[in-house]
Amino acid sequence: MDGKFIIDEDKEYVAGTYARFPVAFKDGKGCRLRDYDGKEYVDCGSGIAVDIFGVNDEEWKSAVIVQLDRVQHTSNLFYTEPQARLGKLLCEKTGAKKVFFGNSGAEANECAIKAARKYSEMLYGAERKQIITLKGSFHGRTLATLAATGQDEFHKYFGPFPEGFLHCEASVDGLRECITEKTCALMIECIQGESGVNVLDAGFVKAAEKICRERDIVLICDEVQTGNGRTGHLYAYQAYGIVPDIVTTAKGLGGGLPIGACMLFGKCGDVFGPGDHGSTFGGNPVVCAGACNIIGRLDEELLRDVREKGEYFMAGLKKISGVEEVSGMGLMIGIKTAKPALQIAKECIERGLLVLTAHSKVRLLPPLTIGKEDIDFALNILNEVISS
Ligand SMILES: Cc1ncc(COP(=O)(O)O)c(C=O)c1O
Repeated sequence: MDGKFIIDEDKEYVAGTYARFPVAFKDGKGCRLRDYDGKEYVDCGSGIAVDIFGVNDEEWKSAVIVQLDRVQHTSNLFYTEPQARLGKLLCEKTGAKKVFFGNSGAEANECAIKAARKYSEMLYGAERKQIITLKGSFHGRTLATLAATGQDEFHKYFGPFPEGFLHCEASVDGLRECITEKTCALMIECIQGESGVNVLDAGFVKAAEKICRERDIVLICDEVQTGNGRTGHLYAYQAYGIVPDIVTTAKGLGGGLPIGACMLFGKCGDVFGPGDHGSTFGGNPVVCAGACNIIGRLDEELLRDVREKGEYFMAGLKKISGVEEVSGMGLMIGIKTAKPALQIAKECIERGLLVLTAHSKVRLLPPLTIGKEDIDFALNILNEVISS
């Protein structure tokens, strides 16, 4: 089978919601992927922050296969050992009290919205339900998470959207202007990934936490993209020294299988009771067995390594002529260039380097285990493409 055959079949039968690059991958190892024509690529995208230990990772595969050999699924009417183990691991590593498992980032955020609204209604009545999010944010593709997303381009065609979302400027004044007696929660991404790897100002994040505490507004950190070691911290909020009430994550947590987690802290810990929320596949034992392996390996040594590699990568990028600005944290990097980002991505792919775009920027989200040799390869290609 060749790549062209797969691409033609996909174009004929799969809904055209993705502007795909003309490549189909057959196999790979670690940071290297190979297409059906045998061409090799260095991966600086990780399937959009998912394959944090690269592809075809032996340890993660073994954990998944052990569980596959036992039982692949039971309903959530029964207990499974991997789900309980993953819940414990996440709570121990973050200080969360309870975790709800779904299948994606959008579902984790839906869960956070429900948890915040129930918390608010129980204490303050049904009128206090408004969720504030930030301009430039991205929270998912379901109707509620699209309504939460603070970018107009995602709001065409699909309305009417659920009510109760307000998008505010990422500034203390902006936040104070938006908060009313109806405000129930503030949802932020510490680093806005989809809108261009925009790192939120630490002073703003700290002030937002304080305002939320004072007014008993639920602070939700969306760590779908920033989470699970990506920034050189287990979760990016930890770099800001804040304690949120709810943290959502997905992507890298499953190492390549679908999972979403909504971690409930302190006052939100026991907000849900039986029947409040659910999911057929959420917390599937095979996926959770893989996720336990992933989370178990994200230790301080690896996180330090991510921070060091991120600094090395960013320092190299800043030297490239044509690079106007480099933003990010750890191995979540945005590059502002004079040349259009999509053109850069296409030319990099032709030369065997996979990079992403985020709005007008080039975005790099390599596997956390990327080696120096592969970073140097990426820097060389990016230099060639951006400065040309
Ligand atoms: C910050 C953030 N939140 C939510 C989502 C939605 O996640 P999913 O595609 O798994 O539903 C994404 C996806 O890119 C994201 O980056």
